Amino acid sequence: MGWVPVGHKRRVKRYATIATLFLTLVLVAIQFVPVRRTNRLGAGYPDSSSEVQWILRRACYDCHSTETRWPIWAYVAPMSWLVVRDVDRAREILNFSDWAAYGHRRRVALRTMVGPVTAGHRMPLWYYLTLHPDARLSDRDLATLEAWSRDAAAEPPGADGSSADPGVSRSR
Ligand code: HEC
Repeated sequence: MGWVPVGHKRRVKRYATIATLFLTLVLVAIQFVPVRRTNRLGAGYPDSSSEVQWILRRACYDCHSTETRWPIWAYVAPMSWLVVRDVDRAREILNFSDWAAYGHRRRVALRTMVGPVTAGHRMPLWYYLTLHPDARLSDRDLATLEAWSRDAAAEPPGADGSSADPGVSRSR
């Protein structure tokens, strides 16, 4: 190999092969980095109409709940790192599965934010929508969320008060 001068083309080809091998090795190696895709039963969801429930579950729950339906790419690094990071951050701010454990003020504040962030198309995140077209919000969905959000003061008392186990059956 080395003692005969290699042509430019062959050298480029050899580098390309080495680079491909290296990249493959890296991609295989990073699969062993542990990723925590957690899920668990929460304290209880918002005591809202079943229509609001349906929209939140369809468009928000994959990130803002502990009932995430992990997509197939959430099992392949490095995409898995991005997905899990988004979900962790989203749950920290707003976790609908733990709604019943939130205090009244936090619920009212979060519920108030839902209308503006959806009306302004900030949520669901746009790249999530490209991969989950079923999460797209129709004008009717937006209006339903907007009304629920505007009515935030009607939120029942927090975890310390009543309504510890709200359910869809008690929809208003
Ligand atoms: C793909 C994951 C994902 C989906 C789906 C999603 N969110 Fe978020 N959400 C986030 C992340 C991550 C944040 C943290 C702040 C940020 O990055 O903007 C966030 C933040 C928020 C906040 C806090 C205010 C803010 O903008 O920081 C609200 C309210 C919110 N989301 C509501 C919703 C609602 C309502 C839905 C469904 C219609 C939804 N989100 C769908 C990931 C998501």
